[in-house]
Amino acid sequence: MPKLEKSKPAPSTIEQRKHSHLELCARAPVEHVGKTTLFEDVELIHNALPDLSWNELDTSLEFLGKRLRAPIVITGMTGGTGDAFAVNRDLATVAEELGIGFGLGSQRAMEAEPSTAWTYQVRDFAPSTLLLANIGLTQAAQHRPDTIEALVRAVGADALCVHLNPAQELIQPEGDRDFRHGTATFARLAQSCSVPIVAKETGCGVSPEVAHRLVRAGVRVIDVSGAGGTSWVKVETLRADGRGRRLGETFQNWGIPTAAALASVRDCGAVLIASGGIRSGLDMAKALALGATLCGAALPVFRAYRAGGKEAAANLIQDLIRGLKTAMLLSGSRNLAELRSKPVVVGTQLRTWIEALRKTVR
Ligand code: FNR
Repeated sequence: MPKLEKSKPAPSTIEQRKHSHLELCARAPVEHVGKTTLFEDVELIHNALPDLSWNELDTSLEFLGKRLRAPIVITGMTGGTGDAFAVNRDLATVAEELGIGFGLGSQRAMEAEPSTAWTYQVRDFAPSTLLLANIGLTQAAQHRPDTIEALVRAVGADALCVHLNPAQELIQPEGDRDFRHGTATFARLAQSCSVPIVAKETGCGVSPEVAHRLVRAGVRVIDVSGAGGTSWVKVETLRADGRGRRLGETFQNWGIPTAAALASVRDCGAVLIASGGIRSGLDMAKALALGATLCGAALPVFRAYRAGGKEAAANLIQDLIRGLKTAMLLSGSRNLAELRSKPVVVGTQLRTWIEALRKTVR
């Protein structure tokens, strides 16, 4: 295993960008203000007579062939630098210890500079963990299927997340501007890749129209990653100046709230991951009742890790699980299947979003 203190390559544009993304996410105000997930517009129904014991609550599940002890994945964040390797290694170790999933950050750096491959190698630290590879749709569109397959195999991943981030790209000064052939790229990957494809937004949400197009293209898992948590438009706005910054400020709250995205795509035929602003076990319980199979979190895990290392990250995940179990017991749900079948109360704002979103399906 390469050592962290090995000499660093000359800084590349990707490397500098990755570094500034991590530093901004560690400290700056990068979450939505004035826009929420709308989980506050969802209520589970209290069960005053649950006839259950805390110790018999079962939060385990099978996901993409792996057994998880709780329905959580630390979603993809980083890779490509020595610092990023330390984050990947330590958070993958936490995932292994707690029996949850772990996602690598975009492997664009690895594809552009194969000598950075070691910064994504976490299998030795997480031999049994559900491990997700990651690439942007634009990069996936530009490369042959065997190049993408090699990225997946090199890290020993169980599935490949293909991330969608057009809002971030448009605000990023050096970002992509051409988003053609996206649906066709998913169809090609679904045909050619040896592992399942997860279509993953990055904080702006997936509408029913997009979800149906993905399913028709052969995608079986969608991470709706909606608005209400980390805003990548905000991250890029903080990196932009002048007119770029003004454009970013205008769009800083763009996106479909996570609860609205989930509730409106629940019947699309894909297995759903809920991420974007999942900040408590109660958020998780509501997401599962709205149709998610797994929940994802990025920013709070990263911030806990930066503040207190592996132990703080593990404590945060354990707090999420404790909150989830509290909601399970109080709603009378012995296991995740029972929780997912519970009716929920939906408030006016969320209902309005769901009605509009359903009209996106032709
Ligand atoms: C991310 N996210 C992300 N997503 C992705 O698919 N590839 C990536 O490389 C990254 N990089 C990244 C870095 C950092 C520091 C953060 C905080 C996030 C997006 C992430 O996986 C998730 O979709 C969103 O951040 C929304 O979830 P949270 O942060 O609100 O829990």
